[in-house]
Amino acid sequence: MKIDPWSSTTYQDYAKLRDEFGIEDFSDDLWKNLPNPHKLLRRGVIFGHRGFQVIQDSVVKKKPWAILTGLMPSGKMHLGHKMVIDEVIYYQSIGADINIAVADIETFATRGRTLEEAKDLALNEYIPSYIALGLKPEKCRIYFQSKNEDVKDLAYILGKKVNWSQMQATYGFDGSSNMAHIFSPLVQTGDILHVQLEKYGGNRPTLVPVGVDQDPHIRLSRDIVQAHRFYNVTVTRDKKIGVFVKIDENVSKLLDDAEKILRSLNFNRLKRITDYKAIYIEDAKEQDIQMIDEMLAKQETKLGGYGFFQPSATFHRFITGLTGDKMSSSKPESAIFLTDSLKDATKKIMNAKTGGAVSLEEQKKHGGKPDECVVYELFLYHLIDDDKELQDIHISCKNGEKMCGQCKKYAAQLMEKLLTNIQEKRKAAAGKIKQYLSV
Ligand code: TRP
Ligand code: SF4
Repeated sequence: MKIDPWSSTTYQDYAKLRDEFGIEDFSDDLWKNLPNPHKLLRRGVIFGHRGFQVIQDSVVKKKPWAILTGLMPSGKMHLGHKMVIDEVIYYQSIGADINIAVADIETFATRGRTLEEAKDLALNEYIPSYIALGLKPEKCRIYFQSKNEDVKDLAYILGKKVNWSQMQATYGFDGSSNMAHIFSPLVQTGDILHVQLEKYGGNRPTLVPVGVDQDPHIRLSRDIVQAHRFYNVTVTRDKKIGVFVKIDENVSKLLDDAEKILRSLNFNRLKRITDYKAIYIEDAKEQDIQMIDEMLAKQETKLGGYGFFQPSATFHRFITGLTGDKMSSSKPESAIFLTDSLKDATKKIMNAKTGGAVSLEEQKKHGGKPDECVVYELFLYHLIDDDKELQDIHISCKNGEKMCGQCKKYAAQLMEKLLTNIQEKRKAAAGKIKQYLSV
């Protein structure tokens, strides 16, 4: 199995994806102590992560951390696209600084749009909706890939430690793949890591909230970070904690610096073995590794390195289309667009594929299947904030009290409210876009 970021596959078996790709389970203990956890976190829509512990730690200890995510301006914005921005807005409310890439280069390379078209879509379609949904201009910047020199430079420079075999194995590129497409994952790596450059706030934990189709880019970014580090802090096979210098230049200076830092952190039982380019820390515990690693990363930046922290990521499930397959801009009947008329939205909901039984009688007898119902998904992802109310619907559907007709009507009503609110606010948003854009 391969995850293809540019295909239109839906992934049904999320647990299997986790196992196969080493994505970690987004378990309760990761979000329970965050302030007012968002419904997408509480309800298992976010089902997996890489390195979220670092983010949790920053939130709890009120240390700076960043959000970086991106949008492909290739069609109209629908409910599937809304999820990421809902997450972003939540993270903004709990202290993250927000960075959003308009992936115009990727859209050009993979969706056959010009940079100009991508720009128009971003400015007229996506960004006004982001603002309408509640994204605040403070500590927030939206930029275009094609206009950011730092992103493009990083893409090029970081590419030095990635080879063609790795790109083929990760993405399935072959001799017929065009170079712009082949290069686009490196641009995305540039997006993800540039926020840690001094100019954009320096080295800090960065969370990339995305759909699971983006995991190959996350893995690539995390690998690239490791490949460019000067130091590595790990537990060895014989359970010792050590700092290792990974490069061949300036080894003794790097070891001296590491030693100084370790002593300043109050580690005293240090065993330096210059031949191994290593310092073993006999009085360190496994919990100390991250903190030591962060201190050493900072030191690297003084020696001309990047010292990037590995980016963290969360992965959300994809919302099912109203027709029962993928929600996609190219099939308007499958998607509710944020700019849909109320009449169209209602019509799509009334035609949606539910988990209802073949007849009313059957449904009264055996109940419906909310977990296989697109209307229920609308409640779960977008329409109902109150967990108790959601649970009541689940129960009364299952025990045959609730019928699909009335249930759809209720969903349509809530959807009308949501869309009216968004569309109202979109009107005022046009005049505010400038506050968000960074050049
Ligand atoms: N590739 C992403 C998509 O298809 C868009 C994107 C570009 C992105 N740069 C990013 C997402 C950086 C997360 C982080 O939607
Ligand atoms: Fe879905 Fe509602 Fe029908 Fe249950 S009653 S299957 S939740 S539409």
